[in-house]
Amino acid sequence: MSKKYSIPLSVYVHIPWCIHKCPYCDFNSHEFEGQDIKNNELIYTNALIKQLENSNINLQRPIHSIFFGGGTPSLFSPASFKKIITKINEKFGLEENCEITIEANPGTVDKQYFYGYKDVGINRMSLGIQSFNEKHLKKLERIHNQQEAIEAANLAVKLFDKVNIDLMFALPGQTQPELNDDIEMALAIGSSHISYYHLTIEPNTFFHKHPPKVPNQDDSAVLFDLVSSKLKNADFEHYETSAYAKKGSQCSHNLNYWNFGDYLGIGAGAHSKITSNDSIRRYACHKSPKYYISEVNKNNYINEEQLLTTNDRVFEFMMNSLRLNNGFDITSFEQKTNLSINEIYKELSIAKEKQLIIEINGRIKPTILGQNFLNELLQIFLRDQNHDVK
Ligand SMILES: C[S@@+](CC[C@H](N)C(=O)[O-])C[C@H]1O[C@@H](n2cnc3c(N)ncnc32)[C@H](O)[C@@H]1O
Ligand code: SF4
Repeated sequence: MSKKYSIPLSVYVHIPWCIHKCPYCDFNSHEFEGQDIKNNELIYTNALIKQLENSNINLQRPIHSIFFGGGTPSLFSPASFKKIITKINEKFGLEENCEITIEANPGTVDKQYFYGYKDVGINRMSLGIQSFNEKHLKKLERIHNQQEAIEAANLAVKLFDKVNIDLMFALPGQTQPELNDDIEMALAIGSSHISYYHLTIEPNTFFHKHPPKVPNQDDSAVLFDLVSSKLKNADFEHYETSAYAKKGSQCSHNLNYWNFGDYLGIGAGAHSKITSNDSIRRYACHKSPKYYISEVNKNNYINEEQLLTTNDRVFEFMMNSLRLNNGFDITSFEQKTNLSINEIYKELSIAKEKQLIIEINGRIKPTILGQNFLNELLQIFLRDQNHDVK
Protein backbone atom coordinates (compact mmCIF):
# COMPACT_ATOMS: atom_id res chain seq x y z
CA MET A 1 0.00 0.00 0.00
CA SER A 2 1.90 3.09 -1.11
CA LYS A 3 -0.20 6.16 -0.40
CA LYS A 4 2.35 8.00 1.68
CA TYR A 5 2.00 11.44 0.22
CA SER A 6 -1.72 11.49 -0.34
CA ILE A 7 -2.27 12.08 3.38
CA PRO A 8 -2.91 15.80 3.94
CA LEU A 9 -0.42 17.58 6.17
CA SER A 10 -1.44 20.47 8.45
CA VAL A 11 0.59 22.70 10.75
CA TYR A 12 -0.50 23.65 14.27
CA VAL A 13 1.33 26.58 15.89
CA HIS A 14 0.84 27.02 19.64
CA ILE A 15 0.92 30.46 21.29
CA PRO A 16 0.90 29.67 25.03
CA TRP A 17 -0.01 33.00 26.68
CA CYS A 18 -3.19 34.61 27.90
CA ILE A 19 -4.05 37.79 29.79
CA HIS A 20 -5.88 35.76 32.45
CA LYS A 21 -6.12 32.01 33.05
CA CYS A 22 -9.81 31.01 32.88
CA PRO A 23 -10.95 28.79 35.79
CA TYR A 24 -12.18 25.96 33.51
CA CYS A 25 -9.19 25.84 31.14
CA ASP A 26 -6.61 23.04 31.12
CA PHE A 27 -4.90 24.04 27.88
CA ASN A 28 -1.17 24.78 27.88
CA SER A 29 -1.78 28.48 28.47
CA HIS A 30 -0.12 30.77 30.97
CA GLU A 31 -0.71 34.27 32.24
CA PHE A 32 1.99 36.78 31.41
CA GLU A 33 3.86 37.41 34.62
CA GLY A 34 4.94 41.01 34.40
CA GLN A 35 7.11 40.20 31.42
CA ASP A 36 7.65 42.51 28.53
CA ILE A 37 4.97 41.18 26.17
CA LYS A 38 6.58 42.57 23.00
CA ASN A 39 10.00 41.16 23.82
CA ASN A 40 8.43 37.86 24.75
CA GLU A 41 6.61 37.76 21.40
CA LEU A 42 9.88 38.32 19.55
CA ILE A 43 11.79 35.64 21.47
CA TYR A 44 8.98 33.10 21.10
CA THR A 45 8.45 33.82 17.39
CA ASN A 46 12.17 33.32 16.81
CA ALA A 47 11.95 29.99 18.63
CA LEU A 48 9.06 28.91 16.38
CA ILE A 49 11.09 29.88 13.30
CA LYS A 50 14.06 27.93 14.65
CA GLN A 51 11.92 24.81 15.16
CA LEU A 52 10.65 25.11 11.59
CA GLU A 53 14.20 25.51 10.28
CA ASN A 54 15.44 22.54 12.26
CA SER A 55 12.53 20.29 11.44
CA ASN A 56 14.32 17.75 9.27
CA ILE A 57 11.47 15.35 8.58
CA ASN A 58 11.20 14.75 4.88
CA LEU A 59 7.55 15.53 4.43
CA GLN A 60 7.37 16.23 0.70
CA ARG A 61 3.85 17.55 0.92
CA PRO A 62 2.56 21.10 0.68
CA ILE A 63 0.65 22.31 3.72
CA HIS A 64 -3.09 21.70 3.74
CA SER A 65 -3.97 24.10 6.60
CA ILE A 66 -2.34 26.16 9.34
CA PHE A 67 -3.90 26.80 12.75
CA PHE A 68 -2.57 29.38 15.21
CA GLY A 69 -4.06 28.22 18.51
CA GLY A 70 -3.53 28.86 22.15
CA GLY A 71 -3.55 30.40 24.53
CA THR A 72 -4.37 33.65 22.89
CA PRO A 73 -2.68 34.08 19.50
CA SER A 74 -4.42 37.46 19.05
CA LEU A 75 -1.92 38.88 21.56
CA PHE A 76 0.72 38.60 18.82
CA SER A 77 1.13 41.12 16.02
CA PRO A 78 0.51 40.42 12.31
CA ALA A 79 4.27 40.82 11.70
CA SER A 80 5.00 37.71 13.79
CA PHE A 81 2.44 35.63 11.89
CA LYS A 82 3.86 36.90 8.61
CA LYS A 83 7.31 35.60 9.60
CA ILE A 84 5.91 32.20 10.55
CA ILE A 85 3.68 31.81 7.48
CA THR A 86 6.57 32.86 5.22
CA LYS A 87 8.87 30.29 6.82
CA ILE A 88 6.26 27.51 6.51
CA ASN A 89 5.77 28.43 2.85
CA GLU A 90 9.53 28.48 2.17
CA LYS A 91 10.00 25.13 3.87
CA PHE A 92 7.03 23.13 2.60
CA GLY A 93 4.92 25.23 0.24
CA LEU A 94 1.21 25.79 0.78
CA GLU A 95 -1.67 24.04 -0.97
CA GLU A 96 -3.81 26.33 -3.07
CA ASN A 97 -6.57 27.75 -0.82
CA CYS A 98 -4.65 26.69 2.29
CA GLU A 99 -6.93 27.48 5.24
CA ILE A 100 -5.07 29.64 7.80
CA THR A 101 -6.91 30.14 11.10
CA ILE A 102 -6.12 32.35 14.07
CA GLU A 103 -7.80 32.00 17.47
CA ALA A 104 -8.72 35.36 18.94
CA ASN A 105 -10.06 36.47 22.28
CA PRO A 106 -12.66 39.28 22.13
CA GLY A 107 -10.90 40.88 25.11
CA THR A 108 -7.70 41.42 23.11
CA VAL A 109 -9.13 43.03 19.98
CA ASP A 110 -6.90 45.53 18.28
CA LYS A 111 -8.61 46.67 15.07
CA GLN A 112 -5.30 47.26 13.30
CA TYR A 113 -4.17 43.75 14.25
CA PHE A 114 -7.38 42.23 12.82
CA TYR A 115 -6.87 44.03 9.48
CA GLY A 116 -3.18 43.04 9.60
CA TYR A 117 -3.98 39.34 10.13
CA LYS A 118 -5.97 39.39 6.92
CA ASP A 119 -3.15 41.16 5.08
CA VAL A 120 -0.61 38.50 6.04
CA GLY A 121 -2.78 35.72 4.61
CA ILE A 122 -4.86 34.56 7.57
CA ASN A 123 -8.24 33.67 6.09
CA ARG A 124 -10.21 32.23 9.02
CA MET A 125 -10.82 33.55 12.52
CA SER A 126 -12.01 31.57 15.53
CA LEU A 127 -13.33 33.74 18.35
CA GLY A 128 -13.53 32.47 21.93
CA ILE A 129 -16.82 34.02 23.03
CA GLN A 130 -18.12 31.26 25.38
CA SER A 131 -21.33 33.17 26.24
CA PHE A 132 -22.95 36.53 25.59
CA ASN A 133 -24.49 36.58 29.07
CA GLU A 134 -22.77 39.03 31.46
CA LYS A 135 -23.40 36.85 34.53
CA HIS A 136 -21.86 33.77 32.90
CA LEU A 137 -18.97 35.74 31.40
CA LYS A 138 -18.11 36.90 34.94
CA LYS A 139 -18.40 33.41 36.41
CA LEU A 140 -16.12 32.10 33.63
CA GLU A 141 -13.75 35.02 34.43
CA ARG A 142 -13.62 36.03 30.79
CA ILE A 143 -11.75 39.26 30.11
CA HIS A 144 -14.50 40.54 27.79
CA ASN A 145 -18.10 41.60 28.21
CA GLN A 146 -21.11 41.12 25.94
CA GLN A 147 -20.55 44.35 24.01
CA GLU A 148 -16.90 43.48 23.29
CA ALA A 149 -17.91 39.99 22.16
CA ILE A 150 -20.46 41.41 19.70
CA GLU A 151 -18.05 44.04 18.36
CA ALA A 152 -15.23 41.50 17.89
CA ALA A 153 -17.56 39.06 16.15
CA ASN A 154 -18.99 41.73 13.83
CA LEU A 155 -15.51 42.86 12.85
CA ALA A 156 -14.40 39.26 12.27
CA VAL A 157 -17.40 38.52 10.05
CA LYS A 158 -16.77 41.74 8.10
CA LEU A 159 -13.12 40.87 7.46
CA PHE A 160 -12.96 37.08 7.09
CA ASP A 161 -14.93 34.75 4.84
CA LYS A 162 -14.70 31.98 7.38
CA VAL A 163 -15.45 32.77 11.03
CA ASN A 164 -16.02 30.38 13.89
CA ILE A 165 -17.34 31.31 17.29
CA ASP A 166 -16.61 29.12 20.31
CA LEU A 167 -19.43 28.88 22.83
CA MET A 168 -20.02 26.66 25.83
CA PHE A 169 -23.23 25.33 27.35
CA ALA A 170 -24.13 23.60 30.64
CA LEU A 171 -22.54 26.57 32.40
CA PRO A 172 -22.91 26.91 36.19
CA GLY A 173 -26.58 27.68 36.91
CA GLN A 174 -27.42 28.12 33.20
CA THR A 175 -31.15 28.07 32.44
CA GLN A 176 -32.87 27.19 29.16
CA PRO A 177 -33.96 30.80 28.45
CA GLU A 178 -30.39 32.00 29.06
CA LEU A 179 -29.01 29.43 26.64
CA ASN A 180 -31.73 30.27 24.16
CA ASP A 181 -30.66 33.93 24.25
CA ASP A 182 -27.01 32.96 23.76
CA ILE A 183 -27.83 30.84 20.71
CA GLU A 184 -29.96 33.61 19.21
CA MET A 185 -27.21 36.17 19.70
CA ALA A 186 -24.71 33.78 18.12
CA LEU A 187 -26.98 33.26 15.11
CA ALA A 188 -27.47 37.01 14.74
CA ILE A 189 -23.69 37.43 14.31
CA GLY A 190 -23.92 35.55 11.01
CA SER A 191 -20.78 33.41 11.32
CA SER A 192 -20.72 30.29 9.17
CA HIS A 193 -19.29 28.01 11.88
CA ILE A 194 -20.13 27.53 15.54
CA SER A 195 -18.31 25.26 17.99
CA TYR A 196 -20.62 24.59 20.91
CA TYR A 197 -18.80 22.78 23.73
CA HIS A 198 -20.34 21.15 26.79
CA LEU A 199 -18.43 22.72 29.70
CA THR A 200 -16.26 20.00 31.22
CA ILE A 201 -14.65 20.24 34.62
CA GLU A 202 -11.06 19.31 33.88
CA PRO A 203 -8.49 18.13 36.43
CA ASN A 204 -5.87 20.77 37.32
CA THR A 205 -8.27 23.66 36.91
CA PHE A 206 -9.71 26.10 39.46
CA PHE A 207 -13.20 24.71 38.79
CA HIS A 208 -11.94 21.24 39.66
CA LYS A 209 -10.67 22.44 43.03
CA HIS A 210 -13.73 24.60 43.65
CA PRO A 211 -16.51 22.90 41.68
CA PRO A 212 -19.35 25.21 40.64
CA LYS A 213 -22.89 23.81 40.56
CA VAL A 214 -23.38 22.78 36.94
CA PRO A 215 -26.56 21.32 35.34
CA ASN A 216 -26.97 17.57 35.96
CA GLN A 217 -26.84 15.01 33.13
CA ASP A 218 -30.57 15.20 32.33
CA ASP A 219 -30.62 18.99 32.31
CA SER A 220 -27.47 19.06 30.18
CA ALA A 221 -29.12 16.71 27.67
CA VAL A 222 -32.06 19.14 27.38
CA LEU A 223 -29.63 22.05 26.87
CA PHE A 224 -27.75 20.05 24.22
CA ASP A 225 -31.02 19.35 22.38
CA LEU A 226 -31.78 23.07 22.43
CA VAL A 227 -28.38 23.87 20.87
CA SER A 228 -28.59 21.22 18.18
CA SER A 229 -32.22 21.84 17.21
CA LYS A 230 -31.85 25.64 17.01
CA LEU A 231 -28.66 25.42 14.98
CA LYS A 232 -30.18 22.81 12.69
CA ASN A 233 -33.19 25.06 12.09
CA ALA A 234 -30.76 27.83 11.14
CA ASP A 235 -29.18 25.61 8.43
CA PHE A 236 -26.13 24.56 10.38
CA GLU A 237 -25.06 20.97 9.84
CA HIS A 238 -23.97 19.20 13.04
CA TYR A 239 -20.92 17.48 11.56
CA GLU A 240 -18.84 16.64 14.61
CA THR A 241 -19.54 16.18 18.34
CA SER A 242 -19.23 19.94 19.03
CA ALA A 243 -18.98 21.46 15.55
CA TYR A 244 -21.75 23.01 13.44
CA ALA A 245 -21.24 24.57 10.02
CA LYS A 246 -23.14 26.11 7.16
CA LYS A 247 -22.67 24.36 3.80
CA GLY A 248 -19.05 24.64 2.61
CA SER A 249 -17.81 26.14 5.89
CA GLN A 250 -16.52 23.11 7.76
CA CYS A 251 -13.11 23.62 9.34
CA SER A 252 -10.53 22.00 7.02
CA HIS A 253 -7.90 21.95 9.73
CA ASN A 254 -10.01 20.12 12.30
CA LEU A 255 -11.41 17.81 9.62
CA ASN A 256 -7.85 16.77 8.87
CA TYR A 257 -7.39 15.74 12.54
CA TRP A 258 -10.69 13.90 12.58
CA ASN A 259 -9.90 12.18 9.28
CA PHE A 260 -6.61 11.00 10.83
CA GLY A 261 -4.47 13.18 8.55
CA ASP A 262 -0.94 14.28 9.45
CA TYR A 263 0.09 17.39 11.35
CA LEU A 264 3.24 19.10 12.41
CA GLY A 265 3.03 20.82 15.80
CA ILE A 266 5.19 23.90 16.31
CA GLY A 267 5.61 25.54 19.73
CA ALA A 268 5.43 24.70 23.42
CA GLY A 269 3.61 21.42 24.06
CA ALA A 270 2.56 21.09 20.40
CA HIS A 271 1.95 17.55 19.14
CA SER A 272 2.80 16.11 15.72
CA LYS A 273 1.60 13.01 13.93
CA ILE A 274 3.58 12.14 10.85
CA THR A 275 3.23 9.21 8.44
CA SER A 276 6.41 8.32 6.63
CA ASN A 277 7.64 5.11 5.01
CA ASP A 278 4.46 3.37 6.17
CA SER A 279 5.12 4.06 9.84
CA ILE A 280 3.23 6.59 11.96
CA ARG A 281 5.05 8.58 14.65
CA ARG A 282 3.88 11.03 17.27
CA TYR A 283 6.06 13.76 18.73
CA ALA A 284 5.44 16.35 21.43
CA CYS A 285 7.50 19.47 22.09
CA HIS A 286 8.50 20.47 25.62
CA LYS A 287 5.43 21.84 27.35
CA SER A 288 6.89 24.68 29.40
CA PRO A 289 7.28 27.75 27.14
CA LYS A 290 10.50 28.78 28.89
CA TYR A 291 12.07 25.33 28.56
CA TYR A 292 10.85 24.97 24.98
CA ILE A 293 12.53 28.27 24.04
CA SER A 294 15.83 27.28 25.65
CA GLU A 295 15.81 23.77 24.14
CA VAL A 296 14.77 24.78 20.64
CA ASN A 297 17.98 26.75 20.35
CA LYS A 298 19.88 23.53 21.07
CA ASN A 299 17.73 21.65 18.54
CA ASN A 300 16.37 19.54 21.39
CA TYR A 301 12.72 20.60 21.40
CA ILE A 302 11.15 17.11 21.31
CA ASN A 303 10.02 15.87 24.69
CA GLU A 304 8.49 12.53 23.74
CA GLU A 305 8.25 10.39 20.67
CA GLN A 306 6.17 7.31 19.97
CA LEU A 307 5.82 4.83 17.12
CA LEU A 308 2.18 3.80 16.76
CA THR A 309 1.43 0.09 17.03
CA THR A 310 -1.35 -1.57 15.04
CA ASN A 311 -3.66 -1.24 18.05
CA ASP A 312 -2.79 2.45 18.46
CA ARG A 313 -3.57 3.07 14.79
CA VAL A 314 -6.94 1.36 15.02
CA PHE A 315 -7.98 3.10 18.22
CA GLU A 316 -6.71 6.55 17.28
CA PHE A 317 -8.29 6.39 13.86
CA MET A 318 -11.65 5.47 15.42
CA MET A 319 -11.33 8.01 18.23
CA ASN A 320 -11.06 10.75 15.62
CA SER A 321 -13.22 9.63 12.73
CA LEU A 322 -16.20 8.36 14.74
CA ARG A 323 -16.61 11.90 16.14
CA LEU A 324 -17.72 12.83 12.62
CA ASN A 325 -21.42 12.28 12.03
CA ASN A 326 -20.53 11.21 8.50
CA GLY A 327 -17.97 8.68 9.76
CA PHE A 328 -15.29 7.44 7.39
CA ASP A 329 -14.62 5.69 4.11
CA ILE A 330 -13.15 2.20 4.21
CA THR A 331 -10.50 3.35 1.70
CA SER A 332 -9.60 6.24 3.99
CA PHE A 333 -9.12 3.79 6.92
CA GLU A 334 -6.79 1.66 4.81
CA GLN A 335 -4.87 4.64 3.47
CA LYS A 336 -4.40 6.44 6.79
CA THR A 337 -3.62 3.43 9.00
CA ASN A 338 -1.87 1.30 6.36
CA LEU A 339 -3.99 -1.63 7.59
CA SER A 340 -6.58 -3.71 5.80
CA ILE A 341 -10.21 -3.22 6.90
CA ASN A 342 -10.22 -6.98 7.65
CA GLU A 343 -7.96 -6.16 10.59
CA ILE A 344 -11.01 -4.75 12.41
CA TYR A 345 -13.67 -7.08 11.01
CA LYS A 346 -14.50 -8.48 14.47
CA GLU A 347 -14.81 -5.06 16.12
CA LEU A 348 -16.94 -3.68 13.28
CA SER A 349 -19.30 -6.68 13.55
CA ILE A 350 -19.74 -6.13 17.31
CA ALA A 351 -20.41 -2.40 16.82
CA LYS A 352 -22.93 -3.16 14.05
CA GLU A 353 -24.69 -5.77 16.18
CA LYS A 354 -25.04 -3.22 18.97
CA GLN A 355 -26.43 -0.75 16.40
CA LEU A 356 -23.72 1.76 17.21
CA ILE A 357 -22.53 2.02 13.57
CA ILE A 358 -23.95 1.40 10.12
CA GLU A 359 -22.17 0.69 6.84
CA ILE A 360 -23.54 2.32 3.68
CA ASN A 361 -21.77 2.20 0.31
CA GLY A 362 -18.31 1.66 1.76
CA ARG A 363 -18.79 4.29 4.50
CA ILE A 364 -18.99 3.52 8.18
CA LYS A 365 -21.01 6.01 10.22
CA PRO A 366 -21.92 6.21 13.88
CA THR A 367 -25.70 5.87 14.39
CA ILE A 368 -27.48 8.38 16.65
CA LEU A 369 -27.06 5.76 19.39
CA GLY A 370 -23.34 5.54 18.55
CA GLN A 371 -23.00 9.33 18.68
CA ASN A 372 -24.72 9.47 22.06
CA PHE A 373 -22.64 6.59 23.44
CA LEU A 374 -19.37 7.40 21.70
CA ASN A 375 -17.24 6.19 24.61
CA GLU A 376 -18.96 2.79 24.60
CA LEU A 377 -18.47 2.59 20.84
CA LEU A 378 -14.76 3.45 21.12
CA GLN A 379 -14.26 0.85 23.85
CA ILE A 380 -14.95 -1.82 21.22
CA PHE A 381 -11.86 -0.67 19.31
CA LEU A 382 -9.64 -0.45 22.38
CA ARG A 383 -7.77 -3.70 21.93
CA ASP A 384 -5.52 -5.47 24.34
CA GLN A 385 -1.83 -4.81 23.55
CA ASN A 386 -1.26 -8.60 23.53
CA HIS A 387 -3.59 -8.77 20.59
CA ASP A 388 -1.32 -6.47 18.57
CA VAL A 389 -0.16 -7.63 15.14
CA LYS A 390 3.37 -6.43 14.46
C1 LIG B 1 -7.94 26.47 23.17
S1 LIG B 1 -9.34 27.36 23.61
C2 LIG B 1 -8.72 28.82 22.86
C3 LIG B 1 -9.66 29.98 22.69
C4 LIG B 1 -9.20 31.29 23.26
N1 LIG B 1 -8.05 31.19 24.06
C5 LIG B 1 -10.31 31.86 24.12
O1 LIG B 1 -10.60 31.23 25.13
O2 LIG B 1 -10.81 32.91 23.79
C6 LIG B 1 -10.58 26.75 22.50
C7 LIG B 1 -11.97 26.60 23.06
O3 LIG B 1 -12.09 25.45 23.88
C8 LIG B 1 -13.25 25.59 24.69
N2 LIG B 1 -12.94 25.12 26.04
C9 LIG B 1 -11.85 25.40 26.76
N3 LIG B 1 -11.92 24.77 27.96
C10 LIG B 1 -13.09 24.09 27.98
C11 LIG B 1 -13.76 23.26 28.94
N4 LIG B 1 -13.24 23.01 30.12
N5 LIG B 1 -14.96 22.74 28.60
C12 LIG B 1 -15.51 22.98 27.38
N6 LIG B 1 -14.93 23.76 26.46
C13 LIG B 1 -13.74 24.31 26.74
C14 LIG B 1 -13.60 27.07 24.69
O4 LIG B 1 -14.81 27.27 24.01
C15 LIG B 1 -12.45 27.71 23.96
O5 LIG B 1 -12.81 28.83 23.24
S1 SF4 C 1 -8.34 32.61 27.19
FE1 SF4 C 1 -8.67 30.57 26.22
S2 SF4 C 1 -6.70 29.47 26.35
FE2 SF4 C 1 -6.60 31.29 27.70
S3 SF4 C 1 -7.10 30.50 29.67
FE3 SF4 C 1 -9.00 31.24 28.79
S4 SF4 C 1 -9.90 29.47 27.68
FE4 SF4 C 1 -7.78 28.96 28.18
